[in-house]
Amino acid sequence: MSLTQADAQAWNSELQDQSPQEILAAALDRFENLAISFSGAEDVVLVDMAAKLGKPFRVFTLDTGRLHSETYRYLEKVRTHYGIKLEVTFPDAAATEKLASEKGLFSFYVEDHKECCAIRKVGPLRRKLSTLDAWVTGQRKDQSPGTRVEIPVVQIDGAFSTPTNQLIKFNPLASWSSAQVWQYIRANEVPYNELHEKGFTSIGCDPCTRAVLPNQHEREGRWWWEEATAKECGLHAINVKK
Ligand code: ADX
Ligand code: SF4
Repeated sequence: MSLTQADAQAWNSELQDQSPQEILAAALDRFENLAISFSGAEDVVLVDMAAKLGKPFRVFTLDTGRLHSETYRYLEKVRTHYGIKLEVTFPDAAATEKLASEKGLFSFYVEDHKECCAIRKVGPLRRKLSTLDAWVTGQRKDQSPGTRVEIPVVQIDGAFSTPTNQLIKFNPLASWSSAQVWQYIRANEVPYNELHEKGFTSIGCDPCTRAVLPNQHEREGRWWWEEATAKECGLHAINVKK
């Protein structure tokens, strides 16, 4: 049954002070047709928490074709460590071939990241989400002062719902800090991406992510040649105020 905006806000008020595990449990209890979106970075804590809850859960990842070798190795490590099926999406072949053939493999440095992200990330995400009733992300408020400070723990996904399919989005880590996530990873001996040992905090595609220096904000290493305000790729379009 669909939620109204008022239902979603009331549910958010109820859940927002609960722990990520409690929020995840509420999501899994309410929706059978739900999946966790795993980027191959510190959002692995959601996979660990779901595994410990002992309820059935699904995980998907968007393989853009441009991830770091370290991330591919890590995705495989997580798949085998937890004994899960990792559902992988690939970009549309024709659209990717057209982009690469017409504009080369690094068009995002010349123009901006939008067209490539639309083809390699957002299109596949839209296709995946059209098969689901709800999804869970690892977004946190502290990841971006510009675009993520207001993310609720549960919301109607206005960017990916369709007239016939309402999509609910859960952000169980919204109120956790990066320090809390890393404390969880260490305390629970959760496997992590080896890029984190090389100065990477936020991890996206290889050509569009670089390590950050001490005290740089974590997303400064993402699309570093662009303005800070543009650092959303469309996966979380509802964060960007029109
Ligand atoms: S992004 O929009 O800038 O790329 P970010 O890297 O901060 O997103 O990740 C936030 C959340 O978006 C992740 O915790 C995950 O839920 C989802 N996400 C990002 N990239 C991917 C991916 N490649 N595959 C699946 N989910 C992803
Ligand atoms: Fe393309 Fe870079 Fe976006 Fe990856 S992050 S989809 S390589 S523009």
